Amino acid sequence: MKSNTILTEDLQYIFNKLSQEEKQKFSGSTVLLTGCGGFLGYYFMHFLSAYADELGIEKIIGLDNFLTGTKDWLEKLSENNPKVALHTFDIIHDDPSGIPDLEKANLIIHGASIASPTFYRIYPLETIDANITGLRRLLDYYAQKDIRGFLFFSSSEIYGDPFAQFIPTSETYRGNVATMGPRACYDEAKRFGETLCYVFHEKYNMPISIARPFNNYGPGMNINDKRLPADFAKCVHEGRDLVMFSDGKPTRTFCYISDAITGYLKVLCHGKLEAFNIGIDKPEISVREFAETFITNAKEVYGYNGKAIFQTSDDSEYLTDNPNRRCPDISKAKKILNYEPEVLVQDGVKRFLTFLKINDGKL
Ligand SMILES: NC(=O)c1ccc[n+]([C@@H]2O[C@H](COP(=O)([O-])OP(=O)(O)OC[C@H]3O[C@@H](n4cnc5c(N)ncnc54)[C@H](O)[C@@H]3O)[C@@H](O)[C@H]2O)c1
Repeated sequence: MKSNTILTEDLQYIFNKLSQEEKQKFSGSTVLLTGCGGFLGYYFMHFLSAYADELGIEKIIGLDNFLTGTKDWLEKLSENNPKVALHTFDIIHDDPSGIPDLEKANLIIHGASIASPTFYRIYPLETIDANITGLRRLLDYYAQKDIRGFLFFSSSEIYGDPFAQFIPTSETYRGNVATMGPRACYDEAKRFGETLCYVFHEKYNMPISIARPFNNYGPGMNINDKRLPADFAKCVHEGRDLVMFSDGKPTRTFCYISDAITGYLKVLCHGKLEAFNIGIDKPEISVREFAETFITNAKEVYGYNGKAIFQTSDDSEYLTDNPNRRCPDISKAKKILNYEPEVLVQDGVKRFLTFLKINDGKL
């Protein structure tokens, strides 16, 4: 595979956005990432590996059961960097004592969960368990160890479908969420995960912080993942019309991966109990406009000449409880973490498609 300049530039961008104090947090650290084979894992693992020496990281441990994640690129990464250790590991059941150096980890990122709505509807119990049982096992394991930071991946989905007056949505909004329904396994597991973090912080004074991601997209997202940006990218890559399974009217802000990872690293380094929205606050665009952004950029990058079409999904629950608007208020992260996302959606989509073109659609 050719070296991918999009990835290299993005990793540099992330590095440049971290403060000296944040970089210092990694010095002499062992970093653990659960869910390393997923979309966000792709950038986390590449970033940590590429900057391990510069940041003074001693070891990077990646765990994944590969239920939805991919492995080939990770195996190559660990073969090429002795600081990277990769283990097939189920956070719900497997025994941590079998993993070398796990007890030394002092920066922990719990990202293992199924994140694509299509897949969490297929695996609802596994989704609940990764976010509750898996999280609980990690918290128990590190409760009395000397750690610098513990990042739990919550979700903007904990807000459910906010009423109009709560958009943009800030961290103080308590949510409008269904306890029953096809999305509840994910939304409610993330909500209870946050409660677990709060309780462990209160009981053990653990340096836990929580990220609530808002719609990330970009390289690292498997085009078969069935999330909207992945579906559009797959259509472009295969030269087919872009298919929308809604009326195209729901709106979102779409946060490019390099801005998102920067935000998550900042939340990890914060090391105090606090929840942060991580995403981008503008522009809030409709799914239809997002499709048009793909088409415009795909013409340039791929010579694509498809169009956007509407279809009904085979998945009868595809739109059930799908929020109409999703837009974060990120002023808290801006103020406390100096988080400033900058990649606008037209640039991010172009980068995503260029990455896929170079990699022939693969990771
Ligand atoms: N990407 C986003 O826009 C977004 C939005 C909201 C929340 N999040 C959260 O961020 C985290 C990472 O998201 P992502 O987009 O990379 O998700 P992803 O689905 O691409 O990756 C998650 C990874 O976790 C692994 N996994 C699942 N269950 C596991 C288990 N029991 N043990 C070990 N590994 C397991 C999967 O195999 C997969 O590789 C998730 O917790 C997700 O819920 C992401």
